[in-house]
Amino acid sequence: MRRNEAVSKKLYIKTYGCQMNVYDSARMAEVLAPLGYAPTAIVEDADMVILNTCHIREKAAEKVYSELGRLAPLKARRASEGGRMMLAVAGCVAQAEGAEILARAPQVDIVLGPQTYHRLPEMVARVARAGKAVLDTEFPAEAKFDFLPASEAPAAVTAFLTIQEGCDKFCTFCVVPYTRGAEFSRPAADILVEARRLVAQGAREITLLGQNVNAYHGAAPEDGVWGLGQLLRAFAEIPDLARLRYTTSHPLDVDEALIEAHRDLPQLMPFLHLPVQSGADRILAAMNRRHRAADYRRIVERLRQARPDLALSSDFIVGFPGESDADFEATLALIRDIGFAQAFSFKYSARPGTPAAALAGQVPEAVKRARLAEVQALLAEQQRAFNTATLGRVVPVLFEKPGRHAGQLVGRSPWLQAVHAPAPAAALGGVAPVRIIGLGPNSLAGALAAGAT
Ligand code: 5AD
Ligand code: SF4
Repeated sequence: MRRNEAVSKKLYIKTYGCQMNVYDSARMAEVLAPLGYAPTAIVEDADMVILNTCHIREKAAEKVYSELGRLAPLKARRASEGGRMMLAVAGCVAQAEGAEILARAPQVDIVLGPQTYHRLPEMVARVARAGKAVLDTEFPAEAKFDFLPASEAPAAVTAFLTIQEGCDKFCTFCVVPYTRGAEFSRPAADILVEARRLVAQGAREITLLGQNVNAYHGAAPEDGVWGLGQLLRAFAEIPDLARLRYTTSHPLDVDEALIEAHRDLPQLMPFLHLPVQSGADRILAAMNRRHRAADYRRIVERLRQARPDLALSSDFIVGFPGESDADFEATLALIRDIGFAQAFSFKYSARPGTPAAALAGQVPEAVKRARLAEVQALLAEQQRAFNTATLGRVVPVLFEKPGRHAGQLVGRSPWLQAVHAPAPAAALGGVAPVRIIGLGPNSLAGALAAGAT
């Protein structure tokens, strides 16, 4: 890729939400690099500001409008100095709000959905030429992945790779099927080329990303279609790739091949984020999750048989319309039975346009608040117990970056726990045995150990 060295412009990207957005932001920076845009951490200096937005949380759009309100004077100041700050809104709020953004925030130059990043240079050129705002929230026939350039920069020790996007599940509370569109799987051959490149650039761990990553069904390199299990096997053959993870999964798409991958691939880390949302069958049905609580328990049992040290993470929604005390109790019971290493929990919040928003039996705010506090207390207790169980043990840690203190490195255990330990800089990018000697609120303290677990 040829860089245009003559033009040097500054790019500021603010990323909200999930790891898919982190990946997308990196790709947007890459497509803009040939136009002379280099990243800056100082928004005031930026010639181009991109808000890569997330629509999953409550009042997401309102928060974006407030941020745009804060950016307007910066843009005006730049204009008064004879310069120009281009403003783009990307991601799921852009997809959901579309032209409304240009109407409510005329300072915005570009609105682009998650499927059109590869067209960003063309949009920038159009704005620069005509001065008129550009809106592109299509789901184009050409796949954006085919147009994204290959990055030359060294990769981080832990890298993300999007293999699948969109969702056809239509859980009744969720906006994703509307903002990210229908399920799409990238061809396995393209994914493997990207994976090998990341490893050549220094990545030692790759997390395969997708809204519904285990629904993956991409074209196989030769003939036919691969599921996630087969794709993981191909990843496991890449030399120097020490660790594999994938997120986010749906219980319905955990198939035999995936369970076997957990059994057979030592690179596949024994930590799985598998959202269940609720432990009550009535609520699961109203959520259109298409599995019961017993199915989830069975899947976890089979996964644990395949990989006995597997730890689980999950997402929970409390206060879904119609959730009774008994339903909530069923969720607590499921949590107690499974035992989670960590989890995310949310109060249900109605998203306009989703079926659950129109359901009768919306739960009062005070009840939601009380249930959230109770579920979070239980999950925090389980997380503490899980972390405490590692005290005194020696665990393999992949060191990712320097720690806060001199002479310290930070990395992750197989179970995604952050671990810091005094270690030489040469240990960066390698997996080392570390004895866990202390528990902090957000990380574990360790000391390099002589032997492995
Ligand atoms: N209300 C509350 N939580 C939600 N999530 C998604 N949509 C909503 C909503 N409308 C949660 C789910 C999902 C996670 C990413 O966000 O638990 O798994
Ligand atoms: Fe949303 Fe996940 Fe359900 Fe898809 S499977 S609709 S992304 S919660």
